[in-house]
Amino acid sequence: MTIFPKVMESIDDLSPKQIESVLSLSVKLKNHPFPAKSSPFQNTSIVTIFFENSTRTKYSFIQAAWKIGINAIDFPIESSSLAKGESLLENFETLYHQGFSAAVIRTSDSDFFKEFKKYCPLPLLNGGNGMVEHPTQALLDLLTLEQTVGGLDQLKGKKICFVGDTLHSRVFHSHIKLLKHFGLDVSTCGPKEWTENLVPNQNDLDQVIKDNDFLYMLRVQKERHAGKTELSQLGNYVDQFGLSKSRLEKNNKNAKVLHPGPVNIGTELTQDIIDSEYYLGHHQVQYSTWLRASLIAHQLNTHEDRYLLENLKTKEDSYEWPE
Ligand code: CP
Repeated sequence: MTIFPKVMESIDDLSPKQIESVLSLSVKLKNHPFPAKSSPFQNTSIVTIFFENSTRTKYSFIQAAWKIGINAIDFPIESSSLAKGESLLENFETLYHQGFSAAVIRTSDSDFFKEFKKYCPLPLLNGGNGMVEHPTQALLDLLTLEQTVGGLDQLKGKKICFVGDTLHSRVFHSHIKLLKHFGLDVSTCGPKEWTENLVPNQNDLDQVIKDNDFLYMLRVQKERHAGKTELSQLGNYVDQFGLSKSRLEKNNKNAKVLHPGPVNIGTELTQDIIDSEYYLGHHQVQYSTWLRASLIAHQLNTHEDRYLLENLKTKEDSYEWPE
């Protein structure tokens, strides 16, 4: 198996085998969390550095770290020396010398990793950048899909449609790279103004509901619309592309609904979908902790010169680490 990337910028940084390994460890950790006092990661600290708002990604990384015995803190952008004009790289170097073992970053800059990854001293996970990638979200979605159908093999041939604002969605752009490895039939449904036609696109949501196993409703990315087509210019967006429980039940009672969150309630989805058995959004959030714990563990196991592997092999319930 190829080495786990020191900087995980993109889904393309992982091989399908590594993705399977990440998913597999997520489930093991969920079933058998490391007891805090005997964690192989004792005395390890990671840091989250978020230049954009976040509830799900930031706090699930922090929670994920805690679950496997790692200390996690959030780097306060406004009160850090960034505000005194020190560069981000200098801040990373300081955090590295202070003994932090890894970082998670979110930035609005689609090109952020191009240069930064050449010099970054710390193992780094992408918590979402620009409109380009949100790889950990796509991976936790895949874990949710896999657990819903009972295994990766069961996903082969299943149909998933991404509905809405695919153009500005980093989640969708990561999924385009991810789901092709696992045999899913991927399409989109949305206004032409927000569509790149990377996969077949349709306009008729009722037909899409009938035809698909999974409807992935995307957040309308209002913060990325300045100077482009805004929601108000699309007229009857909600009538065309919004999903309610009655609309779903009229067309396909077997369909499941995903959303990365946060939901614009009443735009992409109605509350009665969120409260229904069709909605997988709460599972996505629950699995996110374990998926991110697995990613941190994979990365530290590879890039920290530590006793971890040996230590784990002595445990009765040993984990299968990638070579
Ligand atoms: N799905 C997602 O990235 O949500 P947050 O912006 O709350 O992290």
